This record gives sequence, C-alpha cells and structure tokens, in this order.
Amino acid sequence: MTAAPKPEETAAAKGEPEETAAAKGEPDGTAAAKGEPDGTGSAKGRLNEDAAVKKQAEVVLRLTDVVKTFPGVKALDGVQLEVRAGEVHCLLGQNGAGKSTLIKVLSGVHRPDSGTVEWLGDPVAFADPQAAMNAGIATIYQELDLVEDLTVAENVFLGHEPRRAGFVRRKQAVARTSEILGRLGHGEIPPRRPVHKLQAAAKQIVSMARALSHDARLLIMDEPSAVLAHDEVENLFRIIRELTAQGIAVVYISHRLEEIRVIGDRVTVLKDGRTTAADLPAAATPTGELVSRMTGRTIEYVFPPRPEPADREELLRVTGLSRSGEFTDVSLTVAAGEIVGIAGLVGSGRSELLETVYGARRPDSGTVEFDGRGLRPGDVGSAVRAGMGMAPEERKSQALLLGEPVHRNMTLATFTRIARFGFTSARRERAEAERIAESLELRPRDVSRPVRTLSGGNQQKVVVGRWLLGGTRLLLLDEPTRGVDVGARAELYRVIRDLAAEGVGVLLVSSEVPEVLGLADRVLVMREGRVVHTAPAKQIDEDAVLDLVMAGSLLEGAAL
Ligand SMILES: Nc1ncnc2c1ncn2[C@@H]1O[C@H](COP(=O)(O)OP(=O)(O)OP(=O)(O)O)[C@@H](O)[C@H]1O
Ligand SMILES: [Mg+2]
Repeated sequence: MTAAPKPEETAAAKGEPEETAAAKGEPDGTAAAKGEPDGTGSAKGRLNEDAAVKKQAEVVLRLTDVVKTFPGVKALDGVQLEVRAGEVHCLLGQNGAGKSTLIKVLSGVHRPDSGTVEWLGDPVAFADPQAAMNAGIATIYQELDLVEDLTVAENVFLGHEPRRAGFVRRKQAVARTSEILGRLGHGEIPPRRPVHKLQAAAKQIVSMARALSHDARLLIMDEPSAVLAHDEVENLFRIIRELTAQGIAVVYISHRLEEIRVIGDRVTVLKDGRTTAADLPAAATPTGELVSRMTGRTIEYVFPPRPEPADREELLRVTGLSRSGEFTDVSLTVAAGEIVGIAGLVGSGRSELLETVYGARRPDSGTVEFDGRGLRPGDVGSAVRAGMGMAPEERKSQALLLGEPVHRNMTLATFTRIARFGFTSARRERAEAERIAESLELRPRDVSRPVRTLSGGNQQKVVVGRWLLGGTRLLLLDEPTRGVDVGARAELYRVIRDLAAEGVGVLLVSSEVPEVLGLADRVLVMREGRVVHTAPAKQIDEDAVLDLVMAGSLLEGAAL
C-alpha cells in the first residue's frame, strides 16, 4: 500500500504502511501534530535512520484492533501496537487511557472482547498470567502483586519452583534468587526475608527478579520507576539495556517523559483506549507533540506563580524530632499559606518523618506543635481534629477503601470535620466530591464508581483529593503526583497553590527534584535522616540539591 502522505502525518506514518490505518483513524492526533511545526524536520531525519535499523528486527508482538470493555467503560477501543525484538517500546497516555488494561490483556489477566494478539507470529489467547509467562511474556505490574507473607525467593519462583522427583528444591530456589538479584545489582536483598519487610524499591526489584526467573522474550514494565529513587532509576536503565542487547523486547510505561527520552526507542500513544500515534521516535519527538497526542491539547508544563513571601503566622513547629534508624533531630516550621518541600533520596527518612508529624508513628524524642499547642505523640485523631491531612505514599495499603465508591473515599477522612462544618447530608458530600473530581480531572468523572476500578493515577487523585474538601489547615503530601499524568499534574500543582493562597500550609515530599523546586516556597534537603540544608526555593537549583542528596552516599562509598 502506498499511502499518499498527508502533510500533517508524521514521518513515522509515511515510512510504516501498517501504521497508517491507526494514524488516519484519529483526526485529533493529526491536529496535534500540526501544532508542532518546529522539531518535526529533524525528527523526520532521525526517524528514517531509526526506522531502517528497526526494520531488521523481528516483530515479536502485534496487536490489532483490540477492544476491552468493563461495565460502563470502554477501556480499550481499538488498539494497535507493534513491538520488535530488542527495542524499548514506550506506551504513553493520560491516566485512564488504557495502558494498564492493555498490558493486562497481553499478560493474560484480561481476555480481549475482540481484536487479535499475535505473539512470535501466531495468534494467541492466554488463559491466565502463567500461560503468558510460559510463552515468554513477563510483566511487572503497576500495583505490585507480590505475596507479602512469602519470602523473596518464594515470590520469585512462585508457580515455577525448581523441583526434583516432585519435591520443591528450596535451596536451589534461594541460590538462583541470589544470583538473579546480584545480576540486578541488588545482591544485598536477602532471599529468605518475607517480602512485607522490604521497602517499596526493594519490592520492585523482587518483582523484576521474578520476571527474569522466566526466560522472557518480552518484559513489560508498568511505571517501574514510580517507586524508585534517582540512582535506582539509573540501575533500572542499565538492566534494561542489558536485556535489550540480548534481543529481549521491553514495553515501558511511564509518565516521566525525560525517562522515555533516555531509555526508549519508539513510542505508541494511547488516548481514550485508542492508538493515536504509533512508531514515534522516543528521543526526537518534541514534548509538545507527545503531550498533545496524549491529551488532544497543548499543556504548558509550568508551575503556578509563587507569591511574594509575606509575614505569615506559624502553623507547624517540629523540634528535635527523632526516631531511631529513621530520622534524627529534625526541626522545621511551616507557616500558614507556605509550601515547604523536602527533597532527598527514597529511604532518607522523609516519609517516616511525615508520618510521625501526623501521629501515625510515635517519636523517640522531640515535639510537634500545631498552632502553638503540642500535639499528642502517636495520635492521628488529634492531628486530624486539629486540621492536619495526609496523603501517604502507598495509596493501596495506607489510604483507600478499594471496594467503596470514590465519593465515600473522599469524604471519609474529613467526615468528622465535615459534620462539624454542618454539612452532613449525603447529597452535599457527593456534590463536594464531584467538585473535586472535576478540578482534578478524575476519569471517569462518575464518583459512584468503586475506587478499585480506577486507573492507578486516578486512585492517586482520590488520595490527594479527599483533603481538599475543606477544613484542612495543614496538608502533608508524600509523593502526591506519583503516577499522575502530565496534564493532571499541572492541575494538581494549581490546586495545591490555590490551597496555599487560602492559607493552608503544605509540607511536601517528592523524589522529583524539579517538582520540589517548582512548587515549594522553601526547600529542605534530607540525607540519611537529617536535614542538611534549608533554603528558599529560588536560591537553590537542581544540581545543588542532587549534590547535597548524593554527597552522603558518596562519602559512605569512600568509607567502605
Ligand atoms: N477492573 C476494572 N473494572 C472497571 N473499570 C476498569 C477496570 N480496570 C480499569 N478500568 C477502567 O478502564 C480505563 C483504563 O484504565 P487503565 O488502568 O488501563 O488506565 P491507565 O492508562 O493504566 O492509567 P494510569 O496512568 O492512571 O495508570 C479506566 O477508565 C478505568 O477506570
Ligand atoms: Mg496504569
């Protein structure tokens, strides 16, 4: 087929006849491309070279017109995807676009309603995840699905334990687990430790070890970097490069475009369950084009303007707070209307600090004062009554009632306060929840859906959204934009800044340094449980923060 190239279509569509159908079927995709005149020229040049190289690699996976419906939602509405051996194929799309559903179709969790999945040239329909794994497709899910009570090794070999004469060979499983963990650069994780005793980042590694314990030819990663610190992401990329060098294909999902530039080869974009662009070069496609293909509009990825510092009344005062092995002698203040950001590596004690301020953990020493009055240590109730709200890091285990509707999840946390403010009626609660759903671009907008059925990023919006209901005077936010797409992220920043303008104090933890620098008025840098630096956000830049954050680990390395 020689498609007459339309001027708006990308070089990708031109060079790849099999993609044109997808590209043509999506008028808003082409409109998006129009808005991006600059950069397209060079993108085309490089793309043609890339495409030539890619042509040599075999297509291992091809999806055609895949449809998957859930009650009331068409999660996939005709998806096309083609993945070649040895490439890192990135899937981009807004929260709820269908990325996780797509990979669950691939990995045998969901059965498609219609359409075809071809694996290594043959049509397949995997009955369950085990069948997909046996066929060589290994998946690391967005919500990690490890069995918390089993050990690391038991998780890695769950369902395919090494056996002889019918007996499971535990020692062999442990030895092979050690070997794989070593290959992943994490030989320090003990294979016999129960998984629930591990940090989130370590769990991620275990999940990868499990994927690698199979002889996979395709490795699917759904937002693997969301729980990883800066240096961990580099380690992840090193592993991915080793795998692709062996010809293993990788499907990589992330909301961080910078990552896609570094690790990706080609990009497929989903919007509302449909492929809106395929075969875009990961490094060369302008950000504006990627974003507009995802969202159908252009979004300026900027932070809301910061007001001039005013004389503000102090809201929170933390003095000499310590918890053994977590953080030491931390003192800080947050004023009404001020956003204070804490930067640092995962594991530097930031989350534990926030939880202790909130009363979910009891400090060994030190005090937390709110409005000049001491809060009872280890008592969440008194913190909430005083007006504190917290959006924790692990949304599933710590924050959400998954079977309950969105509006219940949003109103539950602030229920006592809502009652105090006089609006207890269910209708009022729902209306408030709807207002927040609107301002955070919740998808689907329907607040009566159980939270379980929302996509990962939309669940995160619910966790944050519940504290926007009113009555919150100090908001503790731990990784508030984890898994949230670029469009909704900008909304969330605006909402947080608006709250501050109304006088709410915010204490924010984020692993993304630009987020801390862009959103906060004042920045604290934590390293190994101590605050090592405090500065107005305007007076510090990303390099300085990273230097401060890394110095500790470098010194440690030198001491070894
Ligand atoms: N088990 C389910 N039951 C009902 N609806 C579902 C279910 N799983 C997903 N959905 C819906 O399907 C749509 C696609 O969700 P999916 O999780 O695939 O999005 P996503 O692209 O992975 O988003 P995110 O970036 O937030 O992870 C959403 O509207 C979601 O609410
Ligand atoms: Mg998802």
